[in-house]
Amino acid sequence: MTVCEYRPGLEGIPATESGISYVDGQNGILEYRGIRIEELALKSNFIEAAYLLIWGGLPTQQELDAFEYEIRHHRRLKFRIRDMMKCFPESGHPMDALQACAAALGLFYSRRELDDPAYIQKAVVRLLAKIPTMVAAFQLIRKGNDPVQPRDDLDYAANFLYMLNEQEPDPLAARIFDICLTLHAEHTINASTFSAMVTASTLTDPYAVVASAVGTLAGPLHGGANEEVIQMLQDIGSVENVRPFVEERVAHKAKIMGFGHRVYKVKDPRAVILQKLAEQLFEKFGQDEYYAIALELESVVTEKLGKKGVYPNVDFYSGLVYRKLGIPTDLFTPIFAIARVAGWLAHWKEQLAENRIFRPTQIYTGPHAQSYVPLAERPQIWDKQPSPFVVSNALRSVS
Ligand code: ACO
Repeated sequence: MTVCEYRPGLEGIPATESGISYVDGQNGILEYRGIRIEELALKSNFIEAAYLLIWGGLPTQQELDAFEYEIRHHRRLKFRIRDMMKCFPESGHPMDALQACAAALGLFYSRRELDDPAYIQKAVVRLLAKIPTMVAAFQLIRKGNDPVQPRDDLDYAANFLYMLNEQEPDPLAARIFDICLTLHAEHTINASTFSAMVTASTLTDPYAVVASAVGTLAGPLHGGANEEVIQMLQDIGSVENVRPFVEERVAHKAKIMGFGHRVYKVKDPRAVILQKLAEQLFEKFGQDEYYAIALELESVVTEKLGKKGVYPNVDFYSGLVYRKLGIPTDLFTPIFAIARVAGWLAHWKEQLAENRIFRPTQIYTGPHAQSYVPLAERPQIWDKQPSPFVVSNALRSVS
């Protein structure tokens, strides 16, 4: 076996062979099963892109109709899942609610037959169908309302916006939202997909696979960055403040949210499309106060960090699109998850086809040949360095 050098974050180390998607980070190219993302965004829709990713090729009309029909008719949640969601704290983050709900599906659909194509098909349909319903239901429940039932006459994107806002969406808004889902559906082995693959490799159920990936997507260095972009634009407050903000960040080597990518060293092709979608929405529904700040930010960051390959990533303009669609900021990452379920499931299926459990190695940096010191003979080291478990009685609390 070749001994490889250790690379933090496994940068540049192949962890699998995959035929699902391809990224050329130097030239800003993203393909799903060989088809450029720009073409899919323009000509396809999310359900067809999900089919392509998961089943490996574009569907015939009959296949697409059947896939769509199945998804439409599995959108409803069991009342016990809705009741479970009503017990969640309203102040909890929707990503945590989604992770809990995705894992709970494993309890309600506990038969696990990974060798049975019908089981795989049903699990794919259930997850694609129910995850949007869960996100919308949590939003209504935390506002004190009852969840809205899905509408079978609406397509995937329009139905989600309907369940969220309790009214049928404008057709342009629904189409743009659908394109956003297509753009976020898959992106090689990023952190959440890798997490999904590691979980899948243990041959657990697909609901655990998705729950594990949702937990990973939630972090601010991954899917959670889109929320922080809006917060950052709000904090900057005006176009004039952009340059000092960037200079201060660069001087302190602090990250600017929505910029930079492990693979892309040019502007993320999805950011290019999302920016155009945002502009279409502004044209129809009015300008967004943050857009001018975002444009100036892109220009100054490019000037200062472009030489390091730091450009807008997918999260930079998506928040502006979602804001115009009336979506609350803390739902941006759950919406990312709704879309990425397609990619996670594609990798789950691919993993099952050639499975070997993930078990990397490590470089041990701890001591060897230590003796066990009896408690009475140990120095009271926390006199110098406080232990997290030694607290005064006054501070003791039960939570
Ligand atoms: N702001 C300022 N500087 C940056 C940024 C940024 N957003 N991103 C990278 N850099 C700089 C780093 O400081 C570093 O500079 P140095 O070489 O002088 O030390 C260099 O560019 C390389 O950056 P790394 O952090 O080493 O790149 P890495 O591949 O580890 O990280 C990541 C990629 C996590 C996306 C990073 O760019 C980042 O934290 N961005 C902000 C968060 C964000 O937008 N995340 C969403 C990513 S897209 C997604 O997950 C869907």
